[in-house]
Amino acid sequence: MRKKVIAGNWKMNMLPNEAIQFIEELAPLVKDTKNEVVLCVPYTDLFYALLTAQNTNIKIGAQNMHFEEKGAYTGEVSAQMLKSINAQYVIIGHSERRQYFNETDETVNKKIKAAFENGLKPIVCVGETLEQREAGETTDIITKQTKLALEGLTEEQVKNIIIAYEPIWAIGTGKTATSEDANNSIKSIREEICRNYGQNASDSVIIQYGGSVKSSNAKELFEMSDIDGGLVGGASLKAEEFSKIVNFNDFGNGEKNH
Ligand code: PGA
Repeated sequence: MRKKVIAGNWKMNMLPNEAIQFIEELAPLVKDTKNEVVLCVPYTDLFYALLTAQNTNIKIGAQNMHFEEKGAYTGEVSAQMLKSINAQYVIIGHSERRQYFNETDETVNKKIKAAFENGLKPIVCVGETLEQREAGETTDIITKQTKLALEGLTEEQVKNIIIAYEPIWAIGTGKTATSEDANNSIKSIREEICRNYGQNASDSVIIQYGGSVKSSNAKELFEMSDIDGGLVGGASLKAEEFSKIVNFNDFGNGEKNH
């Protein structure tokens, strides 16, 4: 059984004092979940978030990194730097980085390799634009992005990666893919992985859905056969709302929803 991973992507939001307050509020609300809880925070929050999340089940990650280890890359942060303060996850290839910061399939691939070399778990984003969707290209686009992102990785690495399927038209728009559509797209990503890395890798890899996930739609999405949780933007900025998403499969009082 694959684990459900619920990751918050704070984007360029939250000052250190807000991050500390958020984690202190979130920790008791999610302490009983069997799902993996991750917060991907701005670089300036990382250290504070990591300290505050110590002794909780909340894992902390970054939202980007450079693929080189060190050198003359003004303004960049390496995988080694993230690892040195015990960050565990890093989002790679978010559509906002592809769109505004020239991230390409090639840099995504290099970053994934550097993340693994330094013991970070990459959350790799793929997804189609509205035009691509309307042109019937969704499957082609997302399977190609997946193939290029994973090129040269070992089967073991592929099993340990997290992929976030995020249709770009659903990000921050309030529009969500239907659970069937999202599940089908994720199935096509799994099939692509199966072709290149075999059934075992395809069955093991965690694939999330992202794009306007909120507490009112999380359960329906995350209970689909191939959706292993979500990457959550806007709804991860309020601790109570995010906790409801994390606890989508739990009732209160520790009673489990079977
Ligand atoms: P959203 O963002 O939940 O605000 O749509 C998701 C993401 O960009 O990861």
